[in-house]
Amino acid sequence: MNLTVIGTGYVGLVSGVCFSDLGNNVVCVDKDSPKIEMLLRGEVPIYEPGLKELIAKNTAEGRLSFSTDISAPVQDAEIVFIAVGTPQLPNGEANLQYIDQAAREIAVALNGYKIIVTKSTVPVGTNERIKQIIGELTTHPFDVVSVPEFLREGSAIKDTLHPDRVIIGAESKEAAETIAVLHRPLTSKIIVTDIRSAEMIKYASNAFLATKISFINEIANICEKVGADVTLVAKGMGEDRRIGASFLNAGIGYGGSCFPKDTHALIQIAGNVEYDFKLLRSVVEVNQMQRFNVISKLQESLEDLAGKTVGIWGLAFKPNTDDVREAPALEIVPALITHGAKVKVYDPIAMDKFRKEYNHESILWSSNAVAAAAECDALCLLTEWDEFVKTDLQQIEKVMDRPILVDGRNVFSQEQIEKTDFTYYSVGRPM
Ligand code: UGA
Repeated sequence: MNLTVIGTGYVGLVSGVCFSDLGNNVVCVDKDSPKIEMLLRGEVPIYEPGLKELIAKNTAEGRLSFSTDISAPVQDAEIVFIAVGTPQLPNGEANLQYIDQAAREIAVALNGYKIIVTKSTVPVGTNERIKQIIGELTTHPFDVVSVPEFLREGSAIKDTLHPDRVIIGAESKEAAETIAVLHRPLTSKIIVTDIRSAEMIKYASNAFLATKISFINEIANICEKVGADVTLVAKGMGEDRRIGASFLNAGIGYGGSCFPKDTHALIQIAGNVEYDFKLLRSVVEVNQMQRFNVISKLQESLEDLAGKTVGIWGLAFKPNTDDVREAPALEIVPALITHGAKVKVYDPIAMDKFRKEYNHESILWSSNAVAAAAECDALCLLTEWDEFVKTDLQQIEKVMDRPILVDGRNVFSQEQIEKTDFTYYSVGRPM
């Protein structure tokens, strides 16, 4: 099929590249010309394992191209995907300005029947709004279909090529079937719904996963007080198939471009129909508090943080990405500085992105994990990069001024810690 994808962020770029790899002809469109120029040169604006290779392969084989022009790609396509950003407005709602703009530009370019698929995460009712915007500007026939995206950063290609399910929200049976045909090589689990339910499935899924994380984090906080081990509790709970083992890793809370934004947006969506989503408000509140437990643990061990040097391992919101959006580190590092500490930071790939978001004279940018720990009064692990997990802690202990380790992701085992003199704090484990 001939496809055009508007927006080359995580969702748009990965989906476009994967669809081309399945044998479709795909044009990825973006207004950001430096980004398109990068892609045309074979460079990739985001860090995502395997993406660069897949772009090179499909461009070389002539199925994948990039453009800043929207009209010709829309006219040549049978299906047009909208995958532009829906960033958070100050009141928590999703900003739909890029969606509206894409809809207007598609409408102006239309030259015959197309299926317009929304991949961006949009509040319930947005696809109807897209339909209205386009309908007011064209007499050409079209259908609007909602196909929410469930890929995770860091495993985006695998998630796209092997999804747990594909949700297709459509009014037209024929349009739903065409979109099902496109996705059938990926999975047999295709669920067709009405448009509003598809829009809601995306928010409900992210909100539920965020709830699992805040739930286990609160259990961890209680475990710390009653002397239980949250990793064993999670294991025991996860064996119950109704609960499931994933997303029960206690830590410093969730970050990223999705859970924080989508939980706020769903609270707003509910609020707009005068429903107070109390549970989700608590999930957000617990997540906000959880990251600051790192500071409390440092204060417990060092008392006053003023004049102390704290090493930070990991700035990205999770491993295998350079994304620092809503990363706990973006609040923990400034909080340490406010308390008067000097901070030595290291992340395998997220240093540049972090520096663009936050910089301060009290930050020392280290070139490796050992350097970030050297002469520190305490070390905090905030992102569970493999590189940190595999580090020889005895070597780290030797370079530090004081052996204090706050493990925000529960990555070190009792055996590893017992071989050292570290005063060790983790999340919800009696170690
Ligand atoms: C998330 C969802 O998992 C995807 O299904 C969804 O498509 C995506 O949002 C989106 O809406 O676009 P992502 O933000 O890439 O994907 O990251 P996750 O792997 O879900 O992790 C989110 C955060 O939760 C991370 O900060 C991670 O450290 C944290 N987390 C995850 C925990 O603290 N504990 C866990 O057990 C699992």
